[in-house]
Amino acid sequence: MTELASLYGGITTRRVTVRDLQLAKDRGERWAMTTSYDMLTAALFDEAGIPVLLVGDSAGNNVLGYETTVPVTLEEMVPLVRAVARSTSRSLVVGDLPFGSYQGSPEQALSSAVRFMQVGAQAVKLEGGRRVLPQVELLVESGVPVMGHLGLTPQSVNTLGGYRVQGRGDQGDRLIQDALALQDAGAFAVVLEVVPGDLAERVTKELAIPTIGIGAGAGCDAQVLVWTDLAGLTPGPGPKFLKRYADLRTVLGEAVREYADDVREGRYPAPEHGYS
Ligand code: KIV
Repeated sequence: MTELASLYGGITTRRVTVRDLQLAKDRGERWAMTTSYDMLTAALFDEAGIPVLLVGDSAGNNVLGYETTVPVTLEEMVPLVRAVARSTSRSLVVGDLPFGSYQGSPEQALSSAVRFMQVGAQAVKLEGGRRVLPQVELLVESGVPVMGHLGLTPQSVNTLGGYRVQGRGDQGDRLIQDALALQDAGAFAVVLEVVPGDLAERVTKELAIPTIGIGAGAGCDAQVLVWTDLAGLTPGPGPKFLKRYADLRTVLGEAVREYADDVREGRYPAPEHGYS
């Protein structure tokens, strides 16, 4: 196996770095990223060999009970980033800068990113293209690796008018220019969310840095899915791009119902669960 045991399909003893991800792109190797917001899933995904864990602001709709990611604050994200960083030893941990924590100025972005780095993140993610270049430049100059995020950027749901496919028609060229600008500013990777597959493929070919797709087809260097979606914990069919790899919603629902029945019927606790 090569660098970091091929993004740790094999045994590794250190954390994945942004350099490993670049080398993977150079070798044409694909990899998977997922989200994590807590100790148990972080440790499990780290052990399962997921090279990059995103402490996404999707915590808003998956942990904190908001309808969108817009209300999520830096104060709410910091403990989640700390928990995931503490519980992993190999996955690269990326903290997702929430809405309002970086758009104000490059200095605001740096102060927010420092909060994540000081609780154990190895990189941060922020949404937007050319409008956030000064932020990306200052972060990278200051030693903070930055992951960009283009296409459907959920923090802009109110200006985008909903969760719609982005990058169709003329928007496609603008998205490519944004991706190139992020790369020039020093970003180490770019998420492409819900854009046509042929556009994502073009961006992936034009960029030297890795692209990470979500609803962007198979032409990206890497893929990301929100863990509660891929594990089937979130309700409903979900978006078209989603593949559910398990049905945790049914499994957990049945488990708690059976537990409650057992308690009601006096089957739990049984003698073997007691202490003499
Ligand atoms: O917050 C998040 O989970 C994300 C991914 C969907 C890329 O930004």
